[in-house]
Amino acid sequence: MIDRLNQLREEALGALQPIWDDAQLEQWRVKFLGRKGALSAAMDQLGALPKEQRAVVGKLANETKNALESAYQVKVGAIQQRALSESLETEPLDVTLPGRPVATGRLHPATQNLREIYRIWGDMGFQVFRSREIETDELNFQLLNIPPFHPARDNWATFYVAGTGQRVVLRTHTSPGQIRAMRLLSENGTQPVRVILPGMCYRYEQISARYEIQFYQVEGLAVGRNVTFADLKGTLTEFARRMYGERPVRFYADHFPFTEPSAQMDVKCIICEGSGCPICKYTGWLEILGSGMVHPQVLRNGGYDPDEWSGFAFGMGAERIAMLKHGIEDIRYFWADDLRFLEQF
Ligand code: PHE
Repeated sequence: MIDRLNQLREEALGALQPIWDDAQLEQWRVKFLGRKGALSAAMDQLGALPKEQRAVVGKLANETKNALESAYQVKVGAIQQRALSESLETEPLDVTLPGRPVATGRLHPATQNLREIYRIWGDMGFQVFRSREIETDELNFQLLNIPPFHPARDNWATFYVAGTGQRVVLRTHTSPGQIRAMRLLSENGTQPVRVILPGMCYRYEQISARYEIQFYQVEGLAVGRNVTFADLKGTLTEFARRMYGERPVRFYADHFPFTEPSAQMDVKCIICEGSGCPICKYTGWLEILGSGMVHPQVLRNGGYDPDEWSGFAFGMGAERIAMLKHGIEDIRYFWADDLRFLEQF
C-alpha cells in the first residue's frame, strides 16, 4: 500500500509536468484527485488494513493528497501566468488608443444660475450677505410691518418650527435679511448699504409646475442718503439687461407691507416676444421680481433714521429667473434629481 501511494505520487507529478492547457489539466485532476480518481480508490482500501498499519498509511495518504493538491494549484497559477505573458507578447498594448472618457460632474443648474446672479450684482457693486434660513416670527414678519393676524400673512403660507419658546419659522422670504444687514451696518454708526441676500426659502404650498415648497430667493437692498425710485428703476432695468439682454421691461404697481411704494418688474415674454402664449398667460409679459422703496418703519427697525436715509429693496425667485432664461416650464425639475434634466446645463 505504501509503495502504491508513493508510486501514485510519482506518476501524478510526472504527468502534471508537461501539461499547459486547461482541458488537459482538468483531465489530470479528475484522474488523480477526482472523487472516482486514483487517490480516492487507494484511500477506500484503508479500511481493509489491519489497525496498526492504518494510522501510518492514512497519514501518508493524506500527505500524498496534500502534495498533489498544492502541485495542482501551482500549476493553475503557472498556466495563467504563461497565458498572460503570451498575450502581452503577441498582442502588445496600443498606447495610442484614446482613453475611456471619464464622466465629470457639474454644478447644479440652480447653483450656476445663482452664481450668474451674484456676478451681475457684484459687477454693479452689491456684496453677498448671508442671512438665516430659520427665522423668528419677529424678523420674518413683525419688523416688516406684518404683525400677528395681519391679512398679508396669507401671502406667505408658513412652516413653523415646533418645540421652541417663541414662534420660529422657516423663512418664507429673504426679506428678514434686510433687517439683519441694516442692523449689522448701523452698529457703529449708520453706513450706506448695498447688498444682495441669497438663500433658500420655504412655503407651505401645493406643489405644482409653478410652486415649490422650497426655492431660492435673491433679495437686494440699497440704502443711502438720496436713494430714489428712479434709482430703483434704473438699477433693476440694468440687471434685466445684463441677465436677459436687450429686452423691454415694465414696472407695475404692487403692494408689500415693507415697501412703499411697491412695484413688480416684468420683462417682455421670452417665448412669444409679446404676442401672447401660455407661458405669459397671453399677457406678453413675465413677472421677474417684487420691489419697492423701503418703508420708513422698516428703516427704523434696521437702525436707520428715515428722515436722513432712504432705500430700495427687491426680491426675486432665482429658479424663476432661470426658468425664464432657459424656457424651463416646470419648477419641480430643479429638485427632482433627474439627470436627463441636470445634464442639459
Ligand atoms: N419678500 C417679497 C416676497 O417674497 C419680495 C420683495 C422683496 C418685495 C423686497 C419687495 C421688496 O414676495
